[in-house]
Amino acid sequence: MHYIKPRKNNLCVENISALSLTKYYKTPFYCYSLSQLKDNFYNFSKAFKKTNPLICFSVKSNSNIVLLKELKKMGSGADVVSAGELLKALKAGISSKKIVFSGVGKTYSELELAIRKKVLLINIESESEAVLINKISKKMNVKTCIGIRLNPNITADTNKKISTGGKDDKFGLSYNASLIFCKQINTLKNLKLKGISVHIGSQITDIKPFKKVIGIIDKFIKKTKINFEFIDLGGGMGISYSEKNKTLNLNNYASLIRKFIKNKKTQIIFEPGRIITGNTSILITKITYIKKNNNKNFIILDAGMNDLMRPALYNAYHKIIPLKKNKKNILGKVEFVGPICESSDKFVNQNNFSKVKEGDYVAITNVGAYGMSLTSNYNTRPIIAEILVSGSKHKLIKKRQSLESLINN
Ligand code: LLP
Repeated sequence: MHYIKPRKNNLCVENISALSLTKYYKTPFYCYSLSQLKDNFYNFSKAFKKTNPLICFSVKSNSNIVLLKELKKMGSGADVVSAGELLKALKAGISSKKIVFSGVGKTYSELELAIRKKVLLINIESESEAVLINKISKKMNVKTCIGIRLNPNITADTNKKISTGGKDDKFGLSYNASLIFCKQINTLKNLKLKGISVHIGSQITDIKPFKKVIGIIDKFIKKTKINFEFIDLGGGMGISYSEKNKTLNLNNYASLIRKFIKNKKTQIIFEPGRIITGNTSILITKITYIKKNNNKNFIILDAGMNDLMRPALYNAYHKIIPLKKNKKNILGKVEFVGPICESSDKFVNQNNFSKVKEGDYVAITNVGAYGMSLTSNYNTRPIIAEILVSGSKHKLIKKRQSLESLINN
């Protein structure tokens, strides 16, 4: 079900017209639909119901505390990659027993915090990290539960910059290094090896790479003869950014997993990010200027690449739609750009866009995952606000950063 869509000619977020929100909040701002968030989470858990996985929402995709609290209420755990994300997940009320900690460069103080908070699993990505966790745990006189992050040497068909499971990627331990690690684990007395984890990349829409990964984990388990209490399959499930995109069939993925864990006593963990938050938000922005340069129509928005990095960083496609559709169209191609002093500060080229004028508003769609979480203060611009809509109500869930706070240092 889609909760952000045009009704007649007005783009609506649940029961509110997006245009009416511009009377309350200064653009640009992120605007989320709570019903969409709930729908996505429940659909995901429904698809995997028979395997009863622990769903650890990937906080890096969106770390708004209000959204995290909502996810917690739905039963979500958290996948975190820094002390900041860990503390935020805990602040949202998520139990440490539902938190997994990944990342190639966890520091001493981050590990100390995770050990003290007794997270479910620290997924180690190097032997040195395991040695350090052992040392800290010994000092604290505790035994710490870890998982190995296996690098399965699989490259999923996705943007190269968000592929993580190939042998040249920095993530995890290679298959052979993981085997050796398992043999030596007993020498690290303050560790309990409880899990195996993988994450091969993001925005994956084909089942094949997931199938391959499961095959490799299966082989690994047979070889080591270890009954891992947890098998953490990471995230990566792709969503549809355009009508042309296909999406991952979750039911097929679920049946694959059911077959895989038949006769195994193990708990599956998922770390979904994008599939939970991707389509929950639009970025509402105002047209500052319209100009024609060498026959090209430019629409200059008040949102820039610092507010939404994905197009500049990954060439990612985010369709732009008007908040109020005009019957007439602008002829030919328009290029939507931001105000930042970089040529890469452009969002998208679109054909036959609804006729708009300076001062009108448009929405950049599907920005709920890696939108707000990738924002920056580049060009000394404040981080923008986040708004949450539920039914006919709206509220501010993160204030726009003040200019004062920016100019003082
Ligand atoms: N688990 C781990 C260990 C991860 O590294 C990631 C994402 C996830 C889970 C969640 O993946 P998801 O379900 O959201 O695909 N900034 C990029 C995406 C980077 C993803 C990094 N890792 C983008 O905007 O597309």
